[in-house]
Amino acid sequence: MPGQKLVIEGGKPLSGEIKVQGAKNSSLPILAASLLCCGESVLKNCPMLSDVYASCRILNRLGCKCRAENNMVIVDSSSADKAEIPDEMMREMRSSIIFMGALLGKFGYCSLSYPGGCELGPRPIDMHLDAVRKMGASVNDEFGVIRCRAEKGLHGTKISLKYPSVGATENIMLAAVLAKGETIIYNAAREPEIIDLGMYLNKCGAVVKGAGGSTIVIEGRERLHGCIHNIMPDRIAAATYISAVAATRGEINILNFDATLAESFLPVFEQMGCDVYVYDGNIYVGARKPLKGVGKIITMPHPGFPTDAQAVVMAVLCRAKGSSIFEETIFESRYRHVNALVKMGADIKTAGKAAVIEGVRKMYGAKVEATDLRGGAAMAVAALGAEGITEISELRYIDRGYESIENVLTSLGASVKRV
Ligand code: UD1
Repeated sequence: MPGQKLVIEGGKPLSGEIKVQGAKNSSLPILAASLLCCGESVLKNCPMLSDVYASCRILNRLGCKCRAENNMVIVDSSSADKAEIPDEMMREMRSSIIFMGALLGKFGYCSLSYPGGCELGPRPIDMHLDAVRKMGASVNDEFGVIRCRAEKGLHGTKISLKYPSVGATENIMLAAVLAKGETIIYNAAREPEIIDLGMYLNKCGAVVKGAGGSTIVIEGRERLHGCIHNIMPDRIAAATYISAVAATRGEINILNFDATLAESFLPVFEQMGCDVYVYDGNIYVGARKPLKGVGKIITMPHPGFPTDAQAVVMAVLCRAKGSSIFEETIFESRYRHVNALVKMGADIKTAGKAAVIEGVRKMYGAKVEATDLRGGAAMAVAALGAEGITEISELRYIDRGYESIENVLTSLGASVKRV
């Protein structure tokens, strides 16, 4: 909600156990995918986030019957009859572009606008458009409105991505499951959320092989039906809560969390000096000892260190002894949280893709403004480990990715209020 703030009194070591929310980045493409089905999909463990509600509004606009309650979204797409998404709905969230593949697959036509400029820098969609062209769609892009048409339906083809884009991979998967023949995606994104999307589609009767690897093969089918699917846990939320605990020198058990989902970032916490144990399907991270800098971290496509965890991990490293360096290779403007961290006492210098952090002993509460989703979360992490009170405004950014962040942190012993 606009106007809300998070007020955090820092300095208390957090401890306890949590079960992390369902993954935002898995729910959004799966919601778009539900459009392709004739029948009802029940998505369990869905995080109740503004982007999820925005996806539901788009689905309803397209003629589906979609409702969200108690971490469950039920979508019946049998009545879907529209292929246009109005500009204001497209702009509500970046991932609205994933509806392009689903609409083209379902109707052979779609009209939507660019998802808009972004907090993280330019987010082109050239790979998405090139791919649907290759699958037989004409793309008309005028005055910011993209109209795609495939008169005879889409056909399978071989698509080599110049970069393993998560969104482009998902869009192609959605376009391909109802296309004629076989689609092969080379250099596909390998993020775990792609595996979740593949699992959902296969449960609905699609034939998707190799999701999670670099080559994905999709055999087009005539029709998909609905299914019941459990959304995977949110690995970035897990990284955030582990960071919060590490910043306060506390300890946490993340329950029912497949450790393979954390293998791209957990080693960094070990390098800092945290105790990390994986046991019985849970993860323990303890940060009772002094933490140290980690040298260089380069953000990379999965299985590399995730760009989405860069800001929250940086917030921990601000108070880790010695130097740490980030090289952000995915997005151009992903250091916008740095000014706030510096305001709170951090020693960070940025130059282009690099950010150099010299650990300081103490940070202090301040009035700061969330600049984007993960940047805002990083401010919360820093605030928890800082002396005094921090007020984070523009909470709506944080709310885009974290379900009741204040309740989760409070359950770990933090002093956090939404005002
Ligand atoms: C997804 C995630 C986001 C994450 C990102 C990278 C969702 C909803 N969002 O975003 O949280 O930070 O992956 O892991 O899952 N690019 C192009 N042309 C294109 C498409 C992408 O140049 O057509 C570039 C982008 O500008 C960026 C890079 O490729 O530099 C990666 O983007 P991509 O993997 O597509 O990210 P998203 O799917 O937007």
